[in-house]
Amino acid sequence: MQNDKILFVTSEAAPLVKTGGLGDVGGSLPTALKALKCDIRIVLPAYREVLRIAGKLAMVGLIDVSNSSVVRILEGKLPNTHVTVWFIDSPAHFDRPGGLYAGPDGHDWHDNAERFTVFAKAAELIALNQAGLNWYPDIVHCNDWQSALVPALLAHQPRRPASVFTIHNLAYQGLFPAETFERLRVDFQLPPDLWDIHSMEFHGLFSFVKGGLVYSDMLNTVSPTYSHEIRTPAFGNGLDGLLVHRAERLVGILNGADYAVWNPATDPFIAKNYSADKFGGKASNKTALQERFGLPVKPDTPLIGMVGRLVEQKGGDLVLQVIPNIIGEYDVQFIVLGTGDKRFELAFTQIAANHPDKIAVHIGFSEELAHTIESGADMFLMPSRFEPCGLNQMYSLRYGTIPIVRHTGGLADTVIDATDESLDADTANGFSFDIAAPQALRATVERALHLYRQPQLWSQIAKRAMAADYSWSRSARAYIDLYELARQYRNTDKPYR
Ligand code: ADP
Ligand code: GLC
Repeated sequence: MQNDKILFVTSEAAPLVKTGGLGDVGGSLPTALKALKCDIRIVLPAYREVLRIAGKLAMVGLIDVSNSSVVRILEGKLPNTHVTVWFIDSPAHFDRPGGLYAGPDGHDWHDNAERFTVFAKAAELIALNQAGLNWYPDIVHCNDWQSALVPALLAHQPRRPASVFTIHNLAYQGLFPAETFERLRVDFQLPPDLWDIHSMEFHGLFSFVKGGLVYSDMLNTVSPTYSHEIRTPAFGNGLDGLLVHRAERLVGILNGADYAVWNPATDPFIAKNYSADKFGGKASNKTALQERFGLPVKPDTPLIGMVGRLVEQKGGDLVLQVIPNIIGEYDVQFIVLGTGDKRFELAFTQIAANHPDKIAVHIGFSEELAHTIESGADMFLMPSRFEPCGLNQMYSLRYGTIPIVRHTGGLADTVIDATDESLDADTANGFSFDIAAPQALRATVERALHLYRQPQLWSQIAKRAMAADYSWSRSARAYIDLYELARQYRNTDKPYR
């Protein structure tokens, strides 16, 4: 509904802070909802890096979240928008060097459970209008395990807003030992009944994500296909039974792409702007990309890009297995940008060192390089083992950079494989394969390389890809419907348990 008051609780929100797609969504979904006239406020931890770039902030509240922690609420705006952000300022928990969830050594922060309990308690008090902000939301929308305790805390309140929980990635659950729960329970006065297998206990551990899955009025995942996959043992990470049980409350809403940021016609990061009508401009970006990564500048050599977290999920092992054969047989170049597991970082660095004229790798996080690769590559590789939605394939489509993906989750919902039939029907916009095995990936890359040699067909696919519309407006409307359902359940139902 218009004028819905929504409290959007997230641990990432671009452009302030982002480690992956959650950050993109945390920035662009609230902005899209604001454009639909929702009164939306974001709650975000005041990480050190965020405080550095957030601009001028006002102190608007001070709240006790535990026996020993008082947090300040700082108010600002999401850059370039009118969306209000309430930053939860607890220096002991968030003002530190290193990553959002892990320290400089790559290990998770030892106090993550406490950090995100401080965050959740603060969000709960804001949601209940007990933080002195004089604002009572209709809906509290939480995202992934870092804010999943919030629906559980709210469910224990007699008077509360409706709650919605979005699963961006079920593989990250926020699991902590029983002793940690016991400590949190005492320090934060958590309800003791959270320790129960029907609540947040999970095989002897305290599971943050279960707080969202068990207690929220409505649940969603970020693509329709993933919302079905997670009800099966293969994708459910042990939670498929619970998700089947809550199926009536679970829907899939495809993420949108923020075309204000990801648009080759206006992208300030790229060498030359281009569009479907002026597709020739892409060639300059390819040259710039090859130069930037020190690869031979060859306009006719197909260039395959890859950007993403280098973790098991993304199928990097499959890529590493097929690269040697492919570069042995074809004139082709690869460019990889990513950070993640050390073993993948090392393996990609090594393979690039062995084939410097065909493969270039940059280990690091760079928004600018991500745009440069999207604009300059001919194809984009994303052979994920699972993919709740995936944003990079949508960005690739918009840049006419043909995605090669595994048929799973949001990839299955956005990429239409180039078969004889789909080419005839002019529906193809990429390449996909079913089985997560090197042979299947290799065969699909080979199909793409062959089609690349047929310029007319290739430009037909590229044009179709660029025309696809995965903007936020439709998805944001679907969230408004979801909020309405949550509100109805909140009003008519007993709490879930
Ligand atoms: P996930 O959320 O699983 O990481 P998505 O495809 O949904 O995957 O979103 C990833 C987002 O993070 C994209 O915006 C992508 O460009 C960005 N990204 C990932 N790794 C890097 C990197 N090394 N440098 C810059 N951007 C990156
Ligand atoms: C997660 C998923 C990714 C999704 C993103 C934003 O990080 O891995 O598929 O696009 O969240 O919802």
